[in-house]
Amino acid sequence: MVDVSVHDSADQAAHDAAIAIRDHVLTCVDHKQPCRLGLATGGTPLPVYRDLVRWVRSDRLRFDDVTTFNLDEYVGLAPDHPQSYHEYMRQNLFDEAGIRGCNAFLPIGSVVDPNQEARRYESLVVDAGGPTMQLLGIGRNGHIGFNEPGSPLDSITRVVDLADDTIAANSRYFQDISEVPRQAITMGIGTILRSHSIIVLATGLAKADAVARAIQDPVDASHPASALQLHSRVRWILDREAASLLHSDQ
Ligand code: GLP
Repeated sequence: MVDVSVHDSADQAAHDAAIAIRDHVLTCVDHKQPCRLGLATGGTPLPVYRDLVRWVRSDRLRFDDVTTFNLDEYVGLAPDHPQSYHEYMRQNLFDEAGIRGCNAFLPIGSVVDPNQEARRYESLVVDAGGPTMQLLGIGRNGHIGFNEPGSPLDSITRVVDLADDTIAANSRYFQDISEVPRQAITMGIGTILRSHSIIVLATGLAKADAVARAIQDPVDASHPASALQLHSRVRWILDREAASLLHSDQ
C-alpha cells in the first residue's frame, strides 16, 4: 500500500511535509541519533522552508546537530551565482535557519572537473550513511533530483545532461533560457534510494501525470520517480490537483 496524503491546497501539503521534517529532527535530537536531511530545490519546497524558518525563529526547532545534503547543482554555476542551488538554499533556508556552511553540503558546479566532483559528492553522501530523511520534488517528466527519463535505476551521483523540458521549466529563474546550464551534478537514483525515509512533495495540476505514473505504473527507467516504488519508506504528500489522476484506491 502506497503512503499518500492528499491536502486541499499546496500550502497545506507543504505544511504537512514541514511537520514531517520537524518531527524527524526533533525525534533524532530526543534519541540522540544523527540527523541527515536530504534537501531539494525548485518552487515546490519553498513553503516547506518558510515553515521551518518560522519554527526556528520562534524557538520551536533548531538545526544545530543536523547535516544537510542537497540533491543537485548546475554545472558551471559557482556557489555564489544568484541562480545556483547553493544560493537558493542560503536564501531560503540556511541563513535564516542557522544552518552553518560546515554542516550543509551540495555538489560544487564550478569545479574544473565536474565528474571528479560527482564522485567526491557520492562518497560524501554514502560515507555519511545517506540521508536519514530525504525531501524530494518531482519534475513534470518524472525526474527526481536531475535524474532525467532513461537514468539507470541504480545510478550514482554523476554529471547529467538536462532534458529540454527541464531547461524550459527552469528557465523561469533565469533572465533568458540561453543562460540555463545544460548540465548538472545530481545524486543518482540509487543514491536517493539509500535514504532511510523519503518524502515526495508534489503540488499543482502540472505534476498530476508524473505523480500518477510514478505510483501506478510499473517501475521503469523512462519514468525515474517510479523507482520510489522500490523503497519501503516513501510518503507522497500531494495537493488535490497533483493527486487528481490517481485511482481512488490509492
Ligand atoms: C528541478 C530540481 C528538482 C525539482 C524539480 C521540480 O529541476 N532539480 O529537484 O524537484 O525540478 O521543480 P519545481 O518544484 O519547481 O516544480
